[in-house]
Amino acid sequence: MSTDLAQIKVIGVLGAGQMGAGIAQVAATVGYQVLMADVGLEQANKGKAGIDKILTRNVSKGRIDEAKKAEILARLTPVNGLSNLSSADFVIEAATENEALKLKLFTQLDEHCAPHAILATNTSSIPITRIAAATNRPHKVIGMHFMNPVPVMKLVEIITGLATDEATHQLTEALAEKMGKETVLARDMPGFIVNRILMPMINEAVTALYEGIGSREDIDAGMRLGTNQPMGPLTLADFIGLDTCLAIMEVLHQGMGDSKYRPCPLLKQYVDAGWLGRKSGRGFYEY
Ligand SMILES: NC(=O)c1ccc[n+]([C@@H]2O[C@H](COP(=O)([O-])OP(=O)(O)OC[C@H]3O[C@@H](n4cnc5c(N)ncnc54)[C@H](O)[C@@H]3O)[C@@H](O)[C@H]2O)c1
Repeated sequence: MSTDLAQIKVIGVLGAGQMGAGIAQVAATVGYQVLMADVGLEQANKGKAGIDKILTRNVSKGRIDEAKKAEILARLTPVNGLSNLSSADFVIEAATENEALKLKLFTQLDEHCAPHAILATNTSSIPITRIAAATNRPHKVIGMHFMNPVPVMKLVEIITGLATDEATHQLTEALAEKMGKETVLARDMPGFIVNRILMPMINEAVTALYEGIGSREDIDAGMRLGTNQPMGPLTLADFIGLDTCLAIMEVLHQGMGDSKYRPCPLLKQYVDAGWLGRKSGRGFYEY
């Protein structure tokens, strides 16, 4: 039986990091009850505390009032682990970009979630068809790729796997629109649309730095001022997370089997050093 948008009351978000928290915030803002899960309750609480901070800033800037903030926070419930997402009608997974982890999480979600629940993934690059095959409901598994920061960015890239049915696609599109987003539809190929184009550009910027073609500031200013991008590619990489950028390049490299997608050694080295960008306080820049 297929579900329509009006039947979706509770949204489960698995992974309460920068993307999961953003997704939870937007879902609660448009009126959904949201269950937030991560590896444990502590991490889920941390995700909600981050949203509280953002909403407090929005109140101080006059974007929302105290009542709206309280209303949004009241709809967000941190829970202890994914087994507590069983009452969700629609689950959006936003855990770390690691294929083995996501396959395991989807097998577990499939076991714990109601049969009618749709299981979406915010993966940046891992094949939806492969994630879907880790469940007994591949027709109800779909890619729902939000952009960072979720409350600000307009796009949701929807990716249908080989087995995803049309009802799941339609419902996911309707949910993204209800969350105030515009959608594009991508085929399930490595990197989908956005990262297939964006990540090689970021990787090339890292290579330009590695080869000493320009300083970090000049590489960023060159692309900002010369190609009208709102931020330079190295700044953007710090924003996304260098571990996430590396993981996506590895998926492109492996999936396409083409050396043009080889991750830059400097990107690997920064990740080895734990310089992951904004989230760790240091990446190509210091924060
Ligand atoms: N950062 C971006 O710009 C961006 C944009 C679009 C999509 N994505 C995708 O979103 C996903 C999350 O990325 P992020 O930037 O939020 O990363 P993040 O590191 O900020 O958050 C990942 C979260 O997953 C949690 N996690 C790890 N293992 C888990 C488990 N077993 N069960 C539950 N939670 C677990 C971590 O504790 C962490 O809170 C990835 O798939 C990434 O590719 C990221």
